Amino acid sequence: MNLLITGGCGYIGSLLIRKLPFAFTDKINITVFDNLSSGREYMLANLPSKAKYRFFRGDVLKKQDLLKAMENKDIVIHLAAITGACDSFNMPDLFMKVNYEGTKNVVETCLEQGINRLIYASTCNVYGGKRENKLLNEKSSITPPNPYADAKYKGELECLKYHKDYKLPVTCLRFATNYGWSPGIRFNLAINLFTFKAVIGEKITIFDTGEDWRPYIHVQDTVRAITTAIRAPEDVAIGEVFNVGSTEENYKVNQVAQLVKENVENDVEIVHIKKDGLHFSYNVDFSKIKQKLGFHTRFSVVDGIRELAENFKVLFNNSKMLVPNLTSESRHYKKEQNQHIIS
Ligand SMILES: NC(=O)c1ccc[n+]([C@@H]2O[C@H](COP(=O)([O-])OP(=O)(O)OC[C@H]3O[C@@H](n4cnc5c(N)ncnc54)[C@H](O)[C@@H]3O)[C@@H](O)[C@H]2O)c1
Repeated sequence: MNLLITGGCGYIGSLLIRKLPFAFTDKINITVFDNLSSGREYMLANLPSKAKYRFFRGDVLKKQDLLKAMENKDIVIHLAAITGACDSFNMPDLFMKVNYEGTKNVVETCLEQGINRLIYASTCNVYGGKRENKLLNEKSSITPPNPYADAKYKGELECLKYHKDYKLPVTCLRFATNYGWSPGIRFNLAINLFTFKAVIGEKITIFDTGEDWRPYIHVQDTVRAITTAIRAPEDVAIGEVFNVGSTEENYKVNQVAQLVKENVENDVEIVHIKKDGLHFSYNVDFSKIKQKLGFHTRFSVVDGIRELAENFKVLFNNSKMLVPNLTSESRHYKKEQNQHIIS
């Protein structure tokens, strides 16, 4: 089985490429396709010997890169994107270009190369403009609250159009906000950032009231959802959109901060600051993926906080010097940005 993972050096991708060899009995070849704009080549260190890996430094905005990389592939998992919903207000054109036009290129190339399965990484953030106090499902109308979600949703529409018009075998997965350890961990996601702050003894900052809702998923569960979708029968998964997460794992930002406080040994201070315009509140229903694909998450937010705290503590205790390095070098984490940003 020959797989191409776009964005394979990122947060989800760097864990996915390590888990894929154990998710299938077939012998697999994995091509990691990434332009390294935020992912790093060292995400490819110490890969399992059970699969054959190849790295293709390429850009989803370049059709010729995709055409070359997709030769003789069976399955494409399209993760490459510019992430960070809040950042997208400052760079709407770039987000639209990479996340929508890049996806259009991937979709067209999959069709040209006769790919058997395409998995498109979308986001529950597409529901963020609803501000309704009810559970939202795949049939709910979509009002993207920021340029990031807008571009991801347009990418979905492109996938579904190609499925309808040309039978492109695509499945769109709307992931909840991820948390948990991965080689390419992102620090601009609420649970990762709050836990990191708590472990290094800094206060957790929440914008405004912290009463916004959002669903969360452990990155290991996200990876399992992707392999579940690949394995699912065509008539169940192709041409479909699935929310990926667990209905029980919708939390308010305040609740997440409180869970971090309760599960990290340090005495954690939580402060609220005023910041307008960053409210994306959505409460999502995940019954479809449970019923149609039999997918259940295995981790809870509390599991993730404890796991992250252990990992951060080891880094911090092994070498205090690591922390300044970690904060300055981490791809998304900036000290002055003590804020929760979702994907
Ligand atoms: N992490 C989450 O909470 C979350 C939630 C919902 C949806 N998603 C979606 O899942 C996917 C993966 O998310 P992530 O958290 O791993 O993101 P990430 O930012 O960690 O990784 C994205 C990867 O794409 C690469 N990339 C960016 N532009 C590219 C381009 N033009 N060509 C080739 N590669 C490019 C980057 O170098 C990086 O390695 C994204 O599509 C994102 O929208 C993520």
